[in-house]
Amino acid sequence: MPPSEISDLFSLSDFVVQRPSPSQGAGLGPWTLQAHSFPRGGPLSEQLRFALGYALLAPSIRNTQPWRFHLRCHDDRRARLELRLDRSRVLAVADPDGRAATISCGAALTALTLALSQLGPIPHTLELLPSDDDDALLARIHVDTGAPAPAPLPPESQWMFQCLPKRRTLRGPMAARPISARLLERLQAVATRDGVSLHPLLPGDPRRAALVELIEEGEALQAADLAFQAELARWTLSPGAASEGRASGLRPDPGGRTFATIPTEAEGPAARPRPARGEDLSEGSPVMAILATERDTPRDWLRAGDALLRLLLRGRVDHVWASYFGQPLERPALRRRLAALLHELPEETLNTTPENTPNPLHPQVALRLGHGGEVPPSPRRALEDVLEQETA
Ligand SMILES: Cc1cc2nc3c(=O)[nH]c(=O)nc-3n(C[C@H](O)[C@H](O)[C@H](O)COP(=O)(O)O)c2cc1C
Repeated sequence: MPPSEISDLFSLSDFVVQRPSPSQGAGLGPWTLQAHSFPRGGPLSEQLRFALGYALLAPSIRNTQPWRFHLRCHDDRRARLELRLDRSRVLAVADPDGRAATISCGAALTALTLALSQLGPIPHTLELLPSDDDDALLARIHVDTGAPAPAPLPPESQWMFQCLPKRRTLRGPMAARPISARLLERLQAVATRDGVSLHPLLPGDPRRAALVELIEEGEALQAADLAFQAELARWTLSPGAASEGRASGLRPDPGGRTFATIPTEAEGPAARPRPARGEDLSEGSPVMAILATERDTPRDWLRAGDALLRLLLRGRVDHVWASYFGQPLERPALRRRLAALLHELPEETLNTTPENTPNPLHPQVALRLGHGGEVPPSPRRALEDVLEQETA
C-alpha cells in the first residue's frame, strides 16, 4: 500500500499512547516502554532486552503468558535468542495439547521480531521449531549486527509496531458502526500468509447463527465442567489483583465479566455479568471472524499466533478491537463442527485429517471485531521473570 493511502487511514494524534504508570499496580510496568528509549549505541544485550519488552505485551490465553526466553550474547555483535513454551503454564483442561499456548507464543514471537525490525533495526534470522529432540523449543533467533541491515519496515508495519503497547482485549460493548470493507480487506491481507487465513462472518452470513450455537453449547458445557471452572478461577484475577501483585491471569472488566459474557451496547460497560446469549453475541459482534490454518501442527499454531497479532495490531491502528470466543475451540467435538462450518459442509462429510480432506481448514482462533473505546491493560510478568540470560 503506498504511503499516501496509509496517511488517510491514520492520524498522528491517534498514537498518543495512554500509558499506565508503574505505580498504578504491579504487573503494569511492562506497558510503559517507549520506543524512543531504545538504547541505540548501547550494548547488544541491552538492545535485545529492550526488544524483548515488546514480546511481553502479546495476548495469551487467560493471560497465562506461557513463554520463556533465553538470551546468549556470543560477543558484542552476535547473539542467540530462544523462545520456549513454559509447560507449567499450559491449561491442562482448556488446552491439553498446548495449542492455544503455542498460538500465544507465536504472537509473542511476532511482537519480538517486529521490535527487532523496527528498533535499530537489528539484523536477525528466525528458525521455527529448530530442534527435533526438544519440542518446547519453539523458535531460535540468530542476531548478527555485522550482517547487512534489513530493509526498513513498510509504513503499515511501523504503525502496527507502534500499536503494540496500545492493544488490549475488549470484552465490553463495541460500537454498532461496521468495519469498512477496505479495512476488512487489510485485516485479511495481514493475517493471510504461510497457510493461515482469516474468515470474516459478517451480519447476514447464515454461518453466524451456527457459530453462535457452537459458542452457546461450549459455554453450557464449560459451565457444567467443574475442572474447567476450577482452572478458570485459578487464572482469573480479582479486580484488585494488580495491587495484590499478581502479574498473570485474566483481568475481569469493570462489570465483572471474565471471558464469556458480552453486553450489548445498550447495557453499557457496567452491565452485570451473565451467560452469553445468542442474540447478544451476534448483535454485539460487528464482525465475527475465524482464523484458520491448512494443517494443525505446532508450526501452524505458531503461524496462527503470528497472524493473530498482525490482525489485532492492524485493527488497532484503526481503533478496531477484538475479543475471543474460546468456547468452541476448547472442546474437540465443537472444534470439528467449527471446521465443518468453515467448509460449509455437513460435519459427517468432513474428515479432519489433511490427507483425506480436499482443502482442510483447522480453526485456531474465533474472534469478535469492532470499533470501541479505551480499555485498561492487563498485567504482565516482568522481563526478569521470563528471561534467562547467559553471558559468554
Ligand atoms: C490463543 C488465545 C485464546 C484466547 N481465548 C480467549 C477466550 O476464549 N476468551 C477471552 O475472553 N479471551 C481470550 N483470549 C484473550 C486473553 O484472555 C488476553 O489476551 C489476556 O487476558 C491478556 O489481555 P490483553 O489481550 O488485554 O493484553 C485469548 C488469547 C489468545 C492468544
